Amino acid sequence: VSTRFPLAPFPRGWFQIGYGDALGYDLPLGMHFFGHDLVCFRRPDGHPVLADAVCPHLGASLADGAVEDGLLICPFHGWAYDSEGRNCRIPYAEKPNRGARLATWSVEERFGLLFAWYPRHEPPGWPLSDLQLPAEFAERLERADVIRNEYRVATHVQEVLENTVDTAHFIQLHRCLETPQVETWAEDHRFASLTKQVLRGAHDSRLESRVDSRLCGPGLNVNLIEWADSRIYSFLNATPVDVDDIVVWLQGCASAPGTIDEERLYDRAVLQEFQKDVNIFAVKRYIEAPLLAAGEKPIIDYRRWASQFYLNLPEPVGVS
Ligand code: FES
Ligand SMILES: [Fe+2]
Repeated sequence: VSTRFPLAPFPRGWFQIGYGDALGYDLPLGMHFFGHDLVCFRRPDGHPVLADAVCPHLGASLADGAVEDGLLICPFHGWAYDSEGRNCRIPYAEKPNRGARLATWSVEERFGLLFAWYPRHEPPGWPLSDLQLPAEFAERLERADVIRNEYRVATHVQEVLENTVDTAHFIQLHRCLETPQVETWAEDHRFASLTKQVLRGAHDSRLESRVDSRLCGPGLNVNLIEWADSRIYSFLNATPVDVDDIVVWLQGCASAPGTIDEERLYDRAVLQEFQKDVNIFAVKRYIEAPLLAAGEKPIIDYRRWASQFYLNLPEPVGVS
């Protein structure tokens, strides 16, 4: 149980669990999210499979196994599991053990990334295709023509996405010159905000830009920062690992005609600024009834919207 966050550690939704190009056909990919040891592998048709990684035979980790013809092979005694998690072969027995079945999770590959639905036992509450990305950005993600960064942070996923509506910190922590104006919209599992901000540009110039931020569930966030004919895209996804332990996946790019070094621009505008947020997240606490100043109502709107992802959740198992 967390002492810093009075929130269930794993809200309901789609979460990024990795990169599609890290998942081949011969070896499974071991991972740990939602308090579970998991293993991901590909079916022969390419579709990813996500299952609990503990072999029900004698408990070896299937993440250290192999994949043969779309079957997951345990490294210890060679039991084979199909894409539904069923044991379908024991190398030294005539018949498989029909009681030996791995729990499987809903998993999808999109934009070259892997996503899983939490909690495992229920069908996804909305299709992942509800997440719309600008075509130019979606294509670059598919081609892996983006800059990828991951952060392991001792925090809760809800804290990360709250950053999009907490515009007052843009002045103190980031490089805004004035308190940004933010408008928000909430619809079911989607939440959008449009922020107008004034940044300090080169030679102390004023740079007016807008940030279009779209959340889809508690873990996925697409951002577009625009000024003049320049754009910076970022896909900022937060995934629970354990209590007070998350991974943030940040993948994005700059598209700025006339800028010589788009990578450097992305580094300065996104990575250097996000690192400041990460430093705050790593130690901050969640104040349930915050004392706010005028203009900070979007934080309340965001929290009210986010509360839907905690309704009737199962008790987390295996959480350390
Ligand atoms: S522990 Fe997996 S086959 Fe024996
Ligand atoms: Fe921030």
